[in-house]
Amino acid sequence: MKKFPKSFLWGAATSAPQSEGHSSLNGKSPSTWDKWYELAPEKFQKDQGPEHTTNMYELYHEDIKRMKEIHMNSYRTSIAWTRLLPDGKTINQEAVDFYRDYFKELQENGVKPIINLFHFDMPWWLMEKGGWETRASVDAFAYYAKTCFELFGDLVDDWTTFNEPMVHVECGYLYGYHYPAIHDFKKAVQVGYHTLMAHTLAVKAFKEGSHSGKIGIILNVSPCYPRSQSKEDLQAAELADLLNTKSFLDPAVLGTIPAGLIDCLRQNQLLPVTEANDLEEIKQNTVDFIGMNYYQPSRVQAPKEVNKPAVSPADFYDHYDWPDKKINPYRGWEIYPEALYDVAMMIKNEYKNILWYVSENGMGVADEERFMDASGMIQDDYRIEFMEDHLTQLHKGIEAGSNCFGYHSWTFIDCWSWLNGYKNRYGFYQLDLNNDQRRLKKSGLWFKELVDQNGLK
Ligand code: BG6
Repeated sequence: MKKFPKSFLWGAATSAPQSEGHSSLNGKSPSTWDKWYELAPEKFQKDQGPEHTTNMYELYHEDIKRMKEIHMNSYRTSIAWTRLLPDGKTINQEAVDFYRDYFKELQENGVKPIINLFHFDMPWWLMEKGGWETRASVDAFAYYAKTCFELFGDLVDDWTTFNEPMVHVECGYLYGYHYPAIHDFKKAVQVGYHTLMAHTLAVKAFKEGSHSGKIGIILNVSPCYPRSQSKEDLQAAELADLLNTKSFLDPAVLGTIPAGLIDCLRQNQLLPVTEANDLEEIKQNTVDFIGMNYYQPSRVQAPKEVNKPAVSPADFYDHYDWPDKKINPYRGWEIYPEALYDVAMMIKNEYKNILWYVSENGMGVADEERFMDASGMIQDDYRIEFMEDHLTQLHKGIEAGSNCFGYHSWTFIDCWSWLNGYKNRYGFYQLDLNNDQRRLKKSGLWFKELVDQNGLK
């Protein structure tokens, strides 16, 4: 039996915009997702927009029972900035009542809430003023964060500022998957920098408020493996790591911006506009813990062509197909559980062995109904195998001394996923889109046993 540490957190993650619904009701103002859907619904898989979620806003009482049914002892979701502060300043009392009741009910049912502040859902009113491109967004976010800590600090111990900050930077300003879907490396760097400062000042607000809990950040991690040990391939892997992971991980945990990243940005005339005290703020306001979302690694090699000036991070590295690659045939992503051990060791050796947890890990599957048996249960053995393999590697990392305190799957109930809608299913519960019914999958039963044993057989 591979036992996990005592009081290990077992649970699942989602976000407010992907679970609450009621996206234009109960005093909520639009986020970029609500507006984008209004402007261009055809961009969204099967025309399904942010209103089309599991309706947690109304159904949290019964869905928390479902969490208990599979013995989840923790759950991560987010607060919708646009619900709590529809104009950025005025508190929406209905939102306060909703979140307070929701978090209280989680606590009372033995499900520890981990509450995140931003999961890709930029308020429209702020976007119209330039969004993360403007320094004003940093102060607006810090104000929102402080308001959340004050309103819900008695019910929430563990907070995180951002989910996958690099994803909203890349998808919004480089690759076209999030609003405003522009392609501008220089703006992307500025947006990333403001996000970092927004995170930093939120941590500062938390510390100044002398809250009793812990504050962290959730990052997407794709360990970069070079094609060869040649100087060029190694450099490509190093740059990919700096741009994608260390750009947030270093400042968040170590309080510094990596010198290699600054050099690279300087050489390419990409340095952002900063303010005098920023570096000191970053140094003073490091996190208590980190969450790592891990799905797949990055296989990189030296780029064939180098654009001068660089127009995207892809100018610094190319991806290549690893010959031994195992693929999730239902989502197309590589399956490489060993990377989770490497992540555990990286945190132990390079990041002060800080407390951390796996904040997302899971297997997306398209057309999953095809795996339903006669009784109506999805037989997702592939997901069980995926999680067992990843947990085996995580366990090895913990045995080797890495300070991991939990594992959250993505996700609890199949959820709406931005432009992809319901294409890729991840949940322990299947959502039937015809009638919104939730049905337990085989992996949910497996998870319950895992929690009961606090380990793998
Ligand atoms: C994670 C995000 O990285 O991937 C989630 O935090 C997202 O918000 C999930 O839903 C799954 O993505 P996809 O594209 O497979 O539906």
